[in-house]
Amino acid sequence: MGGTFGLVPTMGALHDGHASLIRRASGECDHAGVSIFVNPMQFGSGEDLEKYPRTIEDDLALLERLGVALVFTPGTDRMYPSGYQTWITVENVTAPLEGEWRPGHFRGVVTVVAKLFNAFQPDRAYFGQKDAQQAVVIRRMVKDLNFPVEIVVCPTVRESDGLALSSRNAYLDPEERKAATVLYRALVSAKNSYEKGEKDGAALRSVMQSVIESEPLAVAEYISAADPETLLELQQIVPENGALLSMAVRIGKTRLIDNLLLSP
Ligand code: PAJ
Repeated sequence: MGGTFGLVPTMGALHDGHASLIRRASGECDHAGVSIFVNPMQFGSGEDLEKYPRTIEDDLALLERLGVALVFTPGTDRMYPSGYQTWITVENVTAPLEGEWRPGHFRGVVTVVAKLFNAFQPDRAYFGQKDAQQAVVIRRMVKDLNFPVEIVVCPTVRESDGLALSSRNAYLDPEERKAATVLYRALVSAKNSYEKGEKDGAALRSVMQSVIESEPLAVAEYISAADPETLLELQQIVPENGALLSMAVRIGKTRLIDNLLLSP
């Protein structure tokens, strides 16, 4: 196969967010490929591995419409045959935020992504800003382990009311679906405060928290205003560095994450 190859790793249940990555890969590379693998190693015990949506027929139909010629849908025993025992751990940037609430999650993500990079040797790989920490962690791994791949991070695709598209939105009942807009509303409130001159990290976190608390179905796990590279909480936002506003919020039993970048 000649020309450049772009890889889009996914766990399936494909939506317009995934499609935006695939269109970008197809536009920028001579060939685009998509992997669909619900990676058990990135789910903690008590998380939603068993009920994670699996819609392979619809996914393949979408990929055909998008003109994707290469789709990889391995079984778990193909990725992790018996005797498997090798893991990649990225250290500091996996400690806070998702890493704190989902121990072992990034070890699973980074390991499977490294395996996919080795198997496909893509020139570029496409990830979504929706999973901001994941993108930071993967960039770090690529740099630290000298993977010859360019990481492209694409903007978050949202519903018209601001809810970020996610395979997990399928878990929401109609009442929860309405409540789920609270994440974006909280992020936008903090962004507005920032643009009006509020540069204090704690003040921005409390703006987000009060919007989350106004929604009875919402329970926040973390609410963060952090350095976009180190992911450490900021006391003061330095406009030249910007900040990553992010949060994980439970709406009923469903755990949702979202973020907005205050760009430098
Ligand atoms: P998954 O959740 O299926 O997401 C696949 C890719 O789509 C990720 O890079 C994610 O950030 C991106 N994405 C999801 N929702 C998006 C949205 N609303 N807008 C833009 N991009 C969006 O992330 C994973 O799978 C896995 O951890 C994986 C990287 C495949 C490793 O198993």
